Amino acid sequence: MAAPAATMKAVVYDKPFEVAIRQVEKPQILHPDDIIVKVTTTCICGSDLHMYEGRTAAQPGIIFGHENMGIVDRVGSGVTLLKVGDRVVMPFNVACGRCLNCEEGKSAFCTHVNPGFAGGYVAMGPYPGGQAEYVRVPFADFNALILPPGTEHEEDFALLADIFPTGWHGVELSGFRPGESVVVFGAGPVGLMAAYSAVLRGASDVYVVDRVVERLNKAKDIGCIPIDFSKADAVDQILKLRGGKEVDRGVDAVGYQATSGDGKTEQPNAVLEALIRVVRPTGGLGIPGLYVPSDPGAPDSAAAKGYISFPFGKLFEKGLTLGTGQCNVKTYNRYLRDLIISGRAKPSFVVSHNLPLSEAPSAYHKFDKRIDGYTKVLLHP
Ligand SMILES: NC(=O)c1ccc[n+]([C@@H]2O[C@H](COP(=O)([O-])OP(=O)(O)OC[C@H]3O[C@@H](n4cnc5c(N)ncnc54)[C@H](O)[C@@H]3O)[C@@H](O)[C@H]2O)c1
Ligand SMILES: [Zn+2]
Ligand SMILES: [Zn+2]
Repeated sequence: MAAPAATMKAVVYDKPFEVAIRQVEKPQILHPDDIIVKVTTTCICGSDLHMYEGRTAAQPGIIFGHENMGIVDRVGSGVTLLKVGDRVVMPFNVACGRCLNCEEGKSAFCTHVNPGFAGGYVAMGPYPGGQAEYVRVPFADFNALILPPGTEHEEDFALLADIFPTGWHGVELSGFRPGESVVVFGAGPVGLMAAYSAVLRGASDVYVVDRVVERLNKAKDIGCIPIDFSKADAVDQILKLRGGKEVDRGVDAVGYQATSGDGKTEQPNAVLEALIRVVRPTGGLGIPGLYVPSDPGAPDSAAAKGYISFPFGKLFEKGLTLGTGQCNVKTYNRYLRDLIISGRAKPSFVVSHNLPLSEAPSAYHKFDKRIDGYTKVLLHP
């Protein structure tokens, strides 16, 4: 008789606004290029909330978690760069390392793994997520970034899976050059990382727009100018502060679930419209905030099909450029790791909670409500 499969605890999606801790099968090596990682830290992401709220095609039963780090527990026979005991962090988007886009450094658009991007995310590949005790990492030599041994910088390194590179990417997509001014819409983890990246990269002024006070305070702490859009129109406030002068670059770190100033009504085009108003002619927009081709909970039938209306005529008139899409984490993560090691970057200022995996259900609830200062939650299985 075969031995019963080993099991582990994992965060499983039950239905909108409900996740549970369940015993599930422990992952196995399925291909020679796989490794199994014993997870030490796995983060909850704003992107998880789109699934949590039932705003994607995510089906009940999937294991969440695409921001994972830990210790290599088992290696497949084809793995050459990693060994048991290595400390590693994985990009949120799994990539093969050998298709056209991967070869060109566009690992977020891997055509081999797609349709699909990250593990533990709807429409992001067949890989179970890492909000669990163990996670399988395919194409491990390509996807696992080696970290210094030990436990130092655990919080900072965990953010290399997604939000630190994604914030940096948002600034990159905007065409930013040192000395320029930047506005970042959204002071969630991604927005705060974009603002922090702009500061690290030598921006002259960085404005950060949100309505959550704890988040705006974090932006202020790193030397940015907080703009509370629940008080008055964000663009009006910024132009007033600047004597009417527009900013050079803008980053959308909000995406399709943007709201009106009172936070009550969703307005998927709110941030795009504001960016087009506030960025100077021939400036640039970086749009890491998520937009989806279909949205089961959209406020109108056009948005349900991913049609977002915004003033394209004005965008054209101003000669603005824009860049969108998921972050090619591999383009940045080893350099950002080295900035952390050298002490020049400490992105963990954004972390608000370190919790055991067992507290995931309540952590999702509070993070979703953006209450009790829940900004970035790290789970420890
Ligand atoms: N491109 C990528 O690779 C990538 C990676 C990770 C996350 N994302 C996306 O980035 C976005 C932000 O992620 P997050 O984790 O920071 O999410 P989050 O939900 O924690 O933060 C979004 C913030 O935007 C604020 N907001 C809402 N409407 C606004 C408006 N009109 N103006 C200004 N601020 C507004 C909210 O108050 C909230 O604080 C999400 O859409 C997420 O899916 C993209
Ligand atoms: Zn994420
Ligand atoms: Zn590929």
